[in-house]
Amino acid sequence: MAKEKWIGLSLGVDTDWPSCFEAMMERLKPAYGEGEDRYELKVRRILMDPFFLRDESKYVLVVDRLTHWFKLAREWLKKAALMNDVYLLNNPFTFQSMEKHSAFCAMMRLGLKIPETALLPQKEYPEDSPIYEKTAQRYNLMFDIDEVAERVGYPLYMKPYDGGGWRGVSRIENSEQLHSAYDDSGMEIMHLQKAVDPYEVFVRSLTIGPQVLPMRYDPEQPLHLRYQLDDEFLSPKLRREMCVISKAINAFFRWEYNSCEALLRGDNLHPIDFANACPDSALTSLHRHFPFVTKALLLWTNYCVFSERKMRKDLEFDSWYSIADNREFDYDEKLNRYEKLADEYFETEKFQEFCHTHFSDLDAQLLDFFSSDQFDAILVTKVRDVFPKHEHDHYIEHYRELLRGGVEHKFGGKAS
Ligand SMILES: Nc1ncnc2c1ncn2[C@@H]1O[C@H](COP(=O)(O)OP(=O)(O)OP(=O)(O)O)[C@@H](O)[C@H]1O
Ligand SMILES: [Mg+2]
Repeated sequence: MAKEKWIGLSLGVDTDWPSCFEAMMERLKPAYGEGEDRYELKVRRILMDPFFLRDESKYVLVVDRLTHWFKLAREWLKKAALMNDVYLLNNPFTFQSMEKHSAFCAMMRLGLKIPETALLPQKEYPEDSPIYEKTAQRYNLMFDIDEVAERVGYPLYMKPYDGGGWRGVSRIENSEQLHSAYDDSGMEIMHLQKAVDPYEVFVRSLTIGPQVLPMRYDPEQPLHLRYQLDDEFLSPKLRREMCVISKAINAFFRWEYNSCEALLRGDNLHPIDFANACPDSALTSLHRHFPFVTKALLLWTNYCVFSERKMRKDLEFDSWYSIADNREFDYDEKLNRYEKLADEYFETEKFQEFCHTHFSDLDAQLLDFFSSDQFDAILVTKVRDVFPKHEHDHYIEHYRELLRGGVEHKFGGKAS
């Protein structure tokens, strides 16, 4: 009997893509290796049990969606990486220590077009803390916030240095709004960032390993209408630039399941948020683009296990900075070189070869799955989870229609 290896899913509220991923793994029954070394690759969801630090791991690879919110999950992942060499999407070390702020700094150094950004001392300190009080009295002197804002330039955005989910984000047009937002910021450490305003296109790319899906995004819309339907909203040159920037920042920090946001103004892509440890992957947000998550996760997780790819816990900033700091390279030349480094990190060529050899008929299988009653039941469950009862019928039809179009378009057939 073939041996088994396990992919673990460390999950919170997601119901949709995990069910699709599990269903496709069950349909495909991937198996690798020869003779005695042959094994089947399977998937199961991880429970939050107590664990011993010296325990073996049941999993060879874990797709994690919890680290950002659940300490136990995060600490289990760290132990699994340090003690058991488990491959993790994402790297809990860099996602814990490198927040948006680090990503802004690193990208500025790499020469990417990050809008002017400043970090402010926090407005309030914990009460009854002699350490904070003394330190603040001595070193945290009064400063002129208007001067900082003038230097950044209006309009600007005030946002937490480690934000997520629009928590504490405000758009600021003038000094009055600036003071009011700062007064409300409490103990948060806030960035002031110059607004890219106006901009022509908001691009949000979802990235899984070396696979990048740039999507047009409209933050003014309600959640379920933000991702736009059109695919052809960037010239080939800008699309490639968005893909290179996304892969570069991921390779730089060892992030493998992330989403990246940039605003296009004229010919310039300005990244504004590139560190999302738990990127939105919901069917009800991504609708037509949703099958990408299942497909890209299947391919990347299978490749990582099959190739025995090791998770890179080390960072190599200097190989990136030697390109960034070379005055003879212009922006385009730097991008070319970052792309090469990123593709080396992600083993893109080997990965593509693997996809070709082992998953040449995947699109047909995905077409079959996304047209099935099994997928329809997943869609219905998700809609019922997200929308109030009186809207269920409407949105079930709405998403069925969008998915049907997306599946036909992406997987090249006619979904029933
Ligand atoms: N420099 C900027 N120029 C223009 N718009 C900006 C800028 N910074 C932030 N925004 C707007 O504010 C929104 C939220 O900002 P940001 O993405 O940094 O916060 P977040 O908490 O990560 O939100 P999310 O979870 O939706 O990504 C962006 O989607 C964008 O619409
Ligand atoms: Mg964002």
